[in-house]
Amino acid sequence: MNSATTTLNQLIRHRRSVKPGQYTGVPVSDDIIRQMLENARWAPTHALTEPWHFYVFAGDGLKKLADFQATTYKKNTPPEEFNELKYQKFLSGPLQASHIIVVAMIRQVTQKLPVVEEISAVACAVQNIMLTATAFGVGSYWSTGGMTHKPEMKTFLGLSENDLCLGMVYVGNYTGEITDSTRKHIEEKSTWFTEL
Ligand SMILES: Cc1cc2nc3c(=O)[nH]c(=O)nc-3n(C[C@H](O)[C@H](O)[C@H](O)COP(=O)(O)O)c2cc1C
Repeated sequence: MNSATTTLNQLIRHRRSVKPGQYTGVPVSDDIIRQMLENARWAPTHALTEPWHFYVFAGDGLKKLADFQATTYKKNTPPEEFNELKYQKFLSGPLQASHIIVVAMIRQVTQKLPVVEEISAVACAVQNIMLTATAFGVGSYWSTGGMTHKPEMKTFLGLSENDLCLGMVYVGNYTGEITDSTRKHIEEKSTWFTEL
């Protein structure tokens, strides 16, 4: 194995979701975030539609995102179901991150490609983002919680009806051990055809 393969294997296999509870509060530099986005745009994309857009929230922008989510939760929740703790979590959660990259799939106007292909391309871009974070020793995780799939999110981001918010990538410097993860053996997840 050459050094590129070793590095690639390391990054892919040691990337783990690192969640806000482990973030130190020390900001990640905007330069690292820009390199994450730069690598995102090199993801494969059928017909070069480049169907991604990244909305970066940092500094007071995190508060803007938090306020939007908390307000939307309050507005959409009947008083008898309203949970003050949940509301407060919406307000405080995003502030634990250094940056939050909200990821959207922007549907091509002609809609020639199946939407699943456009979502797939954006997912590849997100993986590039998280692998780049791993390379810089920065924590990241893809969240689809909060208002990700609510129509209000589209309005908040200025998306059109056919676009989709695919989630929020939380980013932060972290401390402590990264939690281990497991995967099933590849033999269970692959089928080879080698004969006629
Ligand atoms: C599309 C997608 C959505 C996800 N949404 C959430 C989420 O809402 N909350 C969460 O805790 N983790 C979320 N995750 C992260 C997974 O929980 C995590 O990848 C999984 O537990 C495997 O751990 P690892 O990333 O450390 O390998 C999401 C991952 C993907 C790919």
